[in-house]
Amino acid sequence: METVLSGIRSTGHLHLGNYFGAIRNFVKMQHEHRCYFFIADYHSLTTHPAPGDLHRNVRQVLVEYLAAGIDPEVATLYIQSDVPEVAELYLLLNMNAYKGELERCTSFKEKVRKQPDNVNAGLLTYPVLMAADIIIHRATKVPVGKDQEQHLEMARTFANRFNRLYKVDYFPAPYAFNFDNELVKVPGLDGSTKMGKSEAEGNAIFLADEPGAIRKKVMRATTDSGPGIPGEEMSQPVENLFNLMRLVSTADTVEHFLESFQQATIRYGDMKKQLAEDMIRFTAPLRERILELEADTDYLKKVAGMGAEKARESARKTIREVREIIGFKPF
Ligand code: TRP
Repeated sequence: METVLSGIRSTGHLHLGNYFGAIRNFVKMQHEHRCYFFIADYHSLTTHPAPGDLHRNVRQVLVEYLAAGIDPEVATLYIQSDVPEVAELYLLLNMNAYKGELERCTSFKEKVRKQPDNVNAGLLTYPVLMAADIIIHRATKVPVGKDQEQHLEMARTFANRFNRLYKVDYFPAPYAFNFDNELVKVPGLDGSTKMGKSEAEGNAIFLADEPGAIRKKVMRATTDSGPGIPGEEMSQPVENLFNLMRLVSTADTVEHFLESFQQATIRYGDMKKQLAEDMIRFTAPLRERILELEADTDYLKKVAGMGAEKARESARKTIREVREIIGFKPF
């Protein structure tokens, strides 16, 4: 059993890409490892969100992760800012994080390019806060995408550097968690091979989407000028629709449309209609659960409280030991 930790950005609704990607794995993983999942709201301050937006986003993410199947009784699901011990560890780690290495970080350079008027110190030390998130629970495995690998490497650097400086073997080095099953690639509706919230409008189907919105997006999905001649090669946008169909429709349905594609009798409109209805059926229980949870503030409060309690217990122990290692002593 490993201690696994994942930080969740507190922006944006979950889409089917997230669902078939990381989230289904989180739901499974929570029964196999000691899992910490937290909503990274301190991190979101680097872009200065309005107070109301900050809270609304955190709440939304909490609701959708619960709806998707994270069990707060099994995993430790918490909000980063409910665990101020993280901020203390961040302060301590900052003393051993060097300006040069932070400036060389790819994500920092990208932010400098994207928001030149807001290059704040929080942005520069973002990887230090992320390291604190991870090592505060002495987590060894972190499920991350490609874009976070450099941050994870920096977390290892900070953990090892702490150990070396104080001649201890205290923090284990965290490594990427690789899911044992292949991650399912969910294509977008705009002809691109990836469903993502930052792609073109209408590219993603969100778990909270209403049936009407799903129908509209699917009916507008990119196809091609086909069908061509029997046996013709499938274009990427059409292959995307088939791949989406494989996720939400029955094998018979997929087979039926594949056959009509091969015979070049397919009508993309019919296929989209079917795909839309199957997506609606698939997301309906999730959406229903999202609506239920959204209305249940008492339950959300209980979940957040329980998560904070469990996370702080682990964080407090680390801070106590780290203070002792560094040499802070009570009189
Ligand atoms: N930086 C991560 C992202 O943008 C979010 C994150 C914050 C995180 N702290 C973390 C991820 C700790 C893993 C571990 O997605």
